[in-house]
Amino acid sequence: MPGAIYAEGLVKTFGDVRALDGVDLDVPEGTVLGLLGPNGAGKTTAVRCLTTLLRPDRGRAVVAGLDVLKEPDAVRRSIGLSGQFAAVDEYLTGRENLQMVGQLYQMRAKAAKARAAELLEQFDLADAADRPTKTYSGGMRRRLDLAAALVVSPPVMFMDEPTTGLDPRNRQLLWEVIKQLVSGGTTLLLTTQYLEEADHLAHDIAVVDHGHVIATGTSDQLKARTGGERVEVVVHEREHMTTAAEVLAGFGKGETTVEDHMRKLTVPVTGGAKLLAEVIRELDTRGIEIDDIGLRRPTLDDVFLSLTGHVAEVKDEQNDKEAVK
Ligand SMILES: Nc1ncnc2c1ncn2[C@@H]1O[C@H](COP(=O)(O)OP(=O)(O)OP(=O)(O)O)[C@@H](O)[C@H]1O
Ligand SMILES: [Mg+2]
Repeated sequence: MPGAIYAEGLVKTFGDVRALDGVDLDVPEGTVLGLLGPNGAGKTTAVRCLTTLLRPDRGRAVVAGLDVLKEPDAVRRSIGLSGQFAAVDEYLTGRENLQMVGQLYQMRAKAAKARAAELLEQFDLADAADRPTKTYSGGMRRRLDLAAALVVSPPVMFMDEPTTGLDPRNRQLLWEVIKQLVSGGTTLLLTTQYLEEADHLAHDIAVVDHGHVIATGTSDQLKARTGGERVEVVVHEREHMTTAAEVLAGFGKGETTVEDHMRKLTVPVTGGAKLLAEVIRELDTRGIEIDDIGLRRPTLDDVFLSLTGHVAEVKDEQNDKEAVK
C-alpha cells in the first residue's frame, strides 16, 4: 500500500530546466520525510507538485489516499502547507490572518478564534497578535505562516524550509510543535537546508540533486554509506607516521589515509570507544607520542558532501529579504 505521500516518476520542466527529472517518494503514514538538497535541486518544485500548486508534466502522485492530478480539490482539503516564502496578508493582524484561515476551512467563528489564540500563544506571537503583519519581522512572519498551516490539523503536512530565518530559540520551539504534530499521527514532508534539523526530526531522508532522488534512508543508514566510524590520529613526530600506520592497519577495517603535512592518519573501524582505547594502548606501547586522537562518526554534512559534491548552504539573509517584499 502506498504511504500517505506517494510519488512516482514526477517530471517538471520549465523551458530548458528539468526541475524534476523522475522523482519517486513514499512516506509511510505518521512519519516525517526530510527532503534535502542543494539550492535549485527541485525541492520546492516537488512540494508544489504534491500540493496541487503545479501540474507535473509526467508522473503520478497520491496524497492522503487521493490522486493529486485527478482530485486536486479534495487533496487541498486534506493537507496543510507552509511555504518557503511566508504568505500572509500584510494588512491584517496576526490574529485576523489565522482566523481567516479557519474560516476558509469552514470552521465556526468561535472555534477559529479559539484556535487562533492558541496558536499565537504557541508560536510566541501573543504580544504582537493585534498588530498588522506588515509590522512583523521576518522571523515573526515565518512563525505566523507556520501557525497558519496548523489552524486545522490536517492528516498530511508539507513544510518548505520551515525554520530558515528563525533564531535558535524559535527553531527549537518549532521542532517541539512538529514533534507534537507527528506524535498525533500527522504525516509530514519537510525540506530543509539544516542537516541537523533533518537528523533531529526526520524518520527518513531523501537527498535530491538535479531533480533526482539520489539516496534515501534513515540518517544512520546514510551515514553508514559514507563510510561509518573512523579513528583519526595526529602523531607528534613525523618519523612515527610509518609505525603508527602499521598499528592502525592492525585495527582498521579498510585502507589507512595519510595526510603527511598534518601528521594525521585516518582509518575506518568498527568497535567504537572500546577499540579506541585499545588503539591508544598499542600506540603507547610502541612509544608513539600523539597530539590528538579521536573517534569520528560521519555527520549528515559528510553525507551531503559526498553525495552531492556541495556543502549545504544556508541562506537566511536572502530568505528574510524575500519574505519582507
Ligand atoms: N517557475 C519557474 N520558472 C522557471 N524555472 C523554475 C521555476 N521554478 C523553479 N525553477 C527552476 O527549477 C529548478 C528547481 O528549483 P526549486 O525551486 O524547486 O529548487 P529548490 O531545491 O527548492 O532550491 P532552494 O534550496 O534554493 O529553495 C531551479 O533550476 C529553478 O531555477
Ligand atoms: Mg526551495
